[in-house]
Amino acid sequence: TLTDAEKAAVLSLWGKASGDLEALGAEALDRLFRSFPQSKTYFSHFDTSPGSADLRNHGAKVLGALGEAAKSMDNLDQALSKLSDLHAYNLRVDPGNFKVLSHCIQIVLAAHFPAEFAPEVQAAWDKFLAAVSAVLTSKYR
Ligand code: HEM
Repeated sequence: TLTDAEKAAVLSLWGKASGDLEALGAEALDRLFRSFPQSKTYFSHFDTSPGSADLRNHGAKVLGALGEAAKSMDNLDQALSKLSDLHAYNLRVDPGNFKVLSHCIQIVLAAHFPAEFAPEVQAAWDKFLAAVSAVLTSKYR
């Protein structure tokens, strides 16, 4: 679980990022698809070109879910229960994809909010994204 300082760091940067979920989310997905092309196989029904309506839509959904999770950092299992079912039972996303996406989200935050992305803020986001990913991949076995 995150310390109070880590939770505050996540929420503080989230406050900035939440203003532009479509663009930031689309960029995170574009980075994911380029650096880990296998991840595209889950999105064969999408237009995966950079900045497409599909990427903006879906990017906003993913980041929006992170924003909701950030409000429930003490209770991630419950907050993410439905999404956890979806990713495990319906989508069957290989867990390795979560590591790369988490990394890409951090890179997007660093690129757009360099002044805020201090090492301790990154560490907090890394821990938060790992905790979210752990819940979303917890029902695989
Ligand atoms: C759908 C969140 C990681 C593949 C979704 C949805 C959300 C979401 C909110 C929409 C659910 C709905 O429509 O009810 C997240 C979060 C992630 C994550 C917070 C981790 C931080 C991943 C990864 C992959 C993936 C790593 C695969 C590379 C998908 C796919 C869909 C989906 C294929 C369905 C897309 C569609 O057809 O509309 N995810 N996701 N997700 N996710 Fe994830």
